[in-house]
Amino acid sequence: MKKNYTTAPLPFQGQKRRFINAFGLAMTELKAKQEVKIIVDLFGGSGLLSHTAKKIFPEAKVIYNDFDNYSLRLKNIAKTNKLLADLRLVLGVHPREKKIPAEVCKTMLDRIEIEDNAGFVDYITLSSSLLFSSKYVTDLKELKSETLYNNIKASDYDVNSTEYLAGLDIVKCDYRQLYNQYKDVSHVLFLVDPPYLSTDTKTYQSDKYWKLRDYLDVLNVLCGSNYFFFTSNKSSLIELCEWFADNRDIGNPFKNSVLNTQNITLNKSAGYTDMMLYKFVKV
Ligand SMILES: C[S@@+](CC[C@H](N)C(=O)[O-])C[C@H]1O[C@@H](n2cnc3c(N)ncnc32)[C@H](O)[C@@H]1O
Repeated sequence: MKKNYTTAPLPFQGQKRRFINAFGLAMTELKAKQEVKIIVDLFGGSGLLSHTAKKIFPEAKVIYNDFDNYSLRLKNIAKTNKLLADLRLVLGVHPREKKIPAEVCKTMLDRIEIEDNAGFVDYITLSSSLLFSSKYVTDLKELKSETLYNNIKASDYDVNSTEYLAGLDIVKCDYRQLYNQYKDVSHVLFLVDPPYLSTDTKTYQSDKYWKLRDYLDVLNVLCGSNYFFFTSNKSSLIELCEWFADNRDIGNPFKNSVLNTQNITLNKSAGYTDMMLYKFVKV
């Protein structure tokens, strides 16, 4: 692994590039203090933390949990570059960040469809090339329903980027399985970067089930472990844990209460549920 990447070679929502310097410094500090033989990146994402960990601990076994098949996207960079080059040609001279006219979109989507039928399209990279910032789709049907903008990078993605994962042990499994495999091994460090609670996890393979309980379950892996954990103030997780530590005996005050719900519609696609809970215990 020659190059030191401070950002993932292909777009990835939630990659920890903003933490890379601080993470690198803290890892170097750890190296001076403790022997680390195994580093397990439970929620590998783009592999950026695994990559950085391997740079700092070249002798350690670094396990990258490639839950989203990011390595497949890296292997197909040449195809993605070719597709983007063809799309640039179809687009011709068109101002950046501006909406692409319908007839041009049609030709571009036809070209993408050919690639889709041939077997591989990196829709995440296409999304960051053609959609309004931070919007993502995962298949052609969804892409067809979106307004397209010209955000295509002027230059190719680096085809040599597969070396970014060199030296890593790549696995693909649920984080619990991986944690159970290594939890009792000595000199282990866990990297724990689960999908944020209030984040759009659509581009992750977990978008169908990532709920509060799943998020809180992850806390189990932190107990008694050497870890790096990432979260955001949107989840208020730290405050919640501090509160529970101060109120250990509260149990579940809603146990055996009765629930009544009211659905509130904000607009066609958004809404929420208001709840009333009641319980009578004293006469
Ligand atoms: C915030 S991202 C990790 C970003 C990564 N640290 C980086 O820098 O690119 C969270 C990742 O966890 C993955 N994930 C979701 N559910 C998972 C599960 N049950 N087991 C392992 N990984 C999971 C998501 O698909 C996503 O890739």
